[in-house]
Amino acid sequence: MFDSTLIDTLLIRLFRYRTRGFMQMTESAGPVPPVPQGEAYLYVHIPFCEVLCPFCSFHRVQHHAATAQFYFQSLREEIKRYHAAGHRFTGVYFGGGTPTCEPTELITTIGLVRALFAVREVSVETNPKDLQPPLLAALQAAGVTRLSVGVQSFDDQLLREMERHTKYGNGAETAERIRLAAPYFPTLNVDLIFNQPHQTLASLQRDLAIFRKLGANQVSLYPLMTSPTVLRRMEKNMGQPDQRRLRSFYQTIVETLGPEFTPSSAWCFTKAGVGSDEYIVASENYVGVGSGAFSYLDGTLFATTFSLQAYNERIRAGLTGITTQHQLSVTDRMRYTLLVKMFGLGLDREWARARYGDRFFRKLWGELRTMEVLGAARRDAQGWRLTGRGMFWLMLMMSEFFESVNTYRDAMRAHVHTELESYNHFCPALTGELCRQPLIN
Ligand SMILES: C[S@@+](CC[C@H](N)C(=O)[O-])C[C@H]1O[C@@H](n2cnc3c(N)ncnc32)[C@H](O)[C@@H]1O
Ligand code: SF4
Repeated sequence: MFDSTLIDTLLIRLFRYRTRGFMQMTESAGPVPPVPQGEAYLYVHIPFCEVLCPFCSFHRVQHHAATAQFYFQSLREEIKRYHAAGHRFTGVYFGGGTPTCEPTELITTIGLVRALFAVREVSVETNPKDLQPPLLAALQAAGVTRLSVGVQSFDDQLLREMERHTKYGNGAETAERIRLAAPYFPTLNVDLIFNQPHQTLASLQRDLAIFRKLGANQVSLYPLMTSPTVLRRMEKNMGQPDQRRLRSFYQTIVETLGPEFTPSSAWCFTKAGVGSDEYIVASENYVGVGSGAFSYLDGTLFATTFSLQAYNERIRAGLTGITTQHQLSVTDRMRYTLLVKMFGLGLDREWARARYGDRFFRKLWGELRTMEVLGAARRDAQGWRLTGRGMFWLMLMMSEFFESVNTYRDAMRAHVHTELESYNHFCPALTGELCRQPLIN
């Protein structure tokens, strides 16, 4: 019998080696990219949060009303620019940061997107504190089909370590707000993070038991993903994660959620009849607008500037936010497709053939065969289906891919460190002026 930890380590090393070319970004002038061949999704990044959590790996800054309102105007200009250039989207995802930090601006922007594009899905991220009836009703009226709430855990001790307990609500308050919010939307998703350094299996089981009683019909369970900066910030209160515990946590999740909740990707579990959320799985192409957003269009990866000032200036100058890009080699495109499709539970043979021709099976013979031999995928008449065993590995691989994105984010944020730091000095709750209070992050 193989040692599973050894196989996990070897697979991740191999994955890292095979995907080392994915994030080699180079400078880009920033015009609107060409319209892709297939369907596309729109991702809108809102990088403002009331409190900056130490574990967070996303591009976000301290919320300040005037800065955020100005930013939303730029966003709408950029969205119009893509529309004028012929881009069309089948769904939209508002992510952050915290998109609900400026409700009126958010709702105006949703209205613009729905007026310009025939979107079937409107997904919005939020925090537990913002789950108040007037906002919920406004989001419902605006056509939001999926609300995703960052809970992370219902465990008060862990919430304290994450510096969320006071600002975003304790475990019991959060549970109550989710119960209240669930009936408003076709999909109510709860984000939980597992493998937090001081989390026990019992604490995770308790989180899952609480979640199941709230009427929410989807849960995304993210392994704690780090980067050098995240690790440094977590050191003080949260400690450092232990990758060796991932398997037992993941096993507990799958066993506890089934059969009521079934996987819609390797880390998203949904009640029967509710659609999947992962826009990178749902649609092969996506356009990211805003500061610190990524696009993937016909094999080219684009990233926008991480400076909010530069972003606003670029939009005023008639450009998009894009400042870097990388055209993946054909083999890397195929590998990216394989990663995304298998993460989304399966790859359809005819779809892959239509997309890349028979060279897909020749080039990726090694990857496909390895998955079969290890029992990660099962071959059937349609193509390759992910097995229960394979789900764990795909969760690991996607997490590895996201960590490489986090490292890129770290580097880009370091370039504009002084500007990002300056947002920490705004204290909107006090005076709205620069108050020079050092809020770390
Ligand atoms: C961009 S946040 C938006 C949610 C909202 N701002 C909140 O936190 O309440 C989306 C989700 O990313 C996840 N996330 C953030 N940092 C993470 C990390 N380092 N590892 C794993 N998941 C992370 C959290 O579960 C979070 O809810
Ligand atoms: S986890 Fe959510 S609230 Fe916390 S910093 Fe990240 S985006 Fe903001």
